[in-house]
Amino acid sequence: MENMLHSTPSHTSVPSSFVFPPEHLKPATSTAVSLPVIDMSGSCTEVINHGISEQVMRDMEAIGEEFFRLPAADKAGFYSESEDPNKATTRLFSNTTYETGGEKYWRDCLRLVCSLPVRDSVKDWPDKPHRLREVTENFMLLTRDLAMKLLRLLCQGMGLRPEYFEGDICGDHVIVDINHYPPCPCPSTTLGLPPHCDRNVITLLLPSMVPGLEVAYKGDWIKVKPIPQAFVVNFGSQLEVLTNGMLKSIEHRVTTNSAMARTSVVTYIAPTGDCLIGPAKEFLSEDNPPFYRTLTYREFKRIYNVVKLGKSLNLTTNLKDVQKMI
Ligand code: OGA
Ligand code: NI
Repeated sequence: MENMLHSTPSHTSVPSSFVFPPEHLKPATSTAVSLPVIDMSGSCTEVINHGISEQVMRDMEAIGEEFFRLPAADKAGFYSESEDPNKATTRLFSNTTYETGGEKYWRDCLRLVCSLPVRDSVKDWPDKPHRLREVTENFMLLTRDLAMKLLRLLCQGMGLRPEYFEGDICGDHVIVDINHYPPCPCPSTTLGLPPHCDRNVITLLLPSMVPGLEVAYKGDWIKVKPIPQAFVVNFGSQLEVLTNGMLKSIEHRVTTNSAMARTSVVTYIAPTGDCLIGPAKEFLSEDNPPFYRTLTYREFKRIYNVVKLGKSLNLTTNLKDVQKMI
């Protein structure tokens, strides 16, 4: 675990595996923009007045930051470099979970996995800081409820029955990732996370007041200006496939900075591995043939597990085309 980024109190240099050539690091446009606020026609939005109290949000952030400040001995037991391909497990790791061919991303992560409806896997979570389990379990339940509520609203808007997302499509567990991006001595050549579309159904992100998240928009990276009481909502690839492209999963990335650590918290709603997802009949007609393949979520993740030098700015629209080729 010494090679986790946050184990070094202050970095003075960046190893070459973190360094990207400039042509792969197109800078964001200079001004930070607020994402559209709960405009459900966009696909990466911020949601406010969502009913989750500011206290719950700040507690979650604080406990995440506190975890990464614990002495190494309190964290080492959770450190694991390898991911179980068959099921998500609670663990502490560095870098992205995509296959990157050796290139590295400036990010440490505590992944907390919780089974549903019986939440017995909470006992596998760290018990330090002492309120971590309580705060995270509460946050996880509230953000999952909010995500399900947003999905029901989407159903209403798109003419699907409201309970469409109950069941395997929203899985039998929830993942909460506490992402920690330590200050980086050379932000201009590194990334915290590669450009990617979330592969799940829907993601709620508590983005931290320290900027870093960037979203692909009309061929440019735009910096997201965090709103204190808002969650960023990302539609995952499964929503894009299910709606036959009516909703799009938006590509995003995380940049680093040299001044301040950034801690974000992400709740992922994902299908079970066996769940088959393809364009729903409600989105198909003679003029609208299925544009996407029907795959189990496990197979989808296996196929879309590689990020190439993180350069892409077009994953938002090319899933359709990529699927024609494979
Ligand atoms: C992710 C992600 C953004 C962030 O974990 O998939 O996009 O701001 N995180 O940490
Ligand atoms: Ni993401």
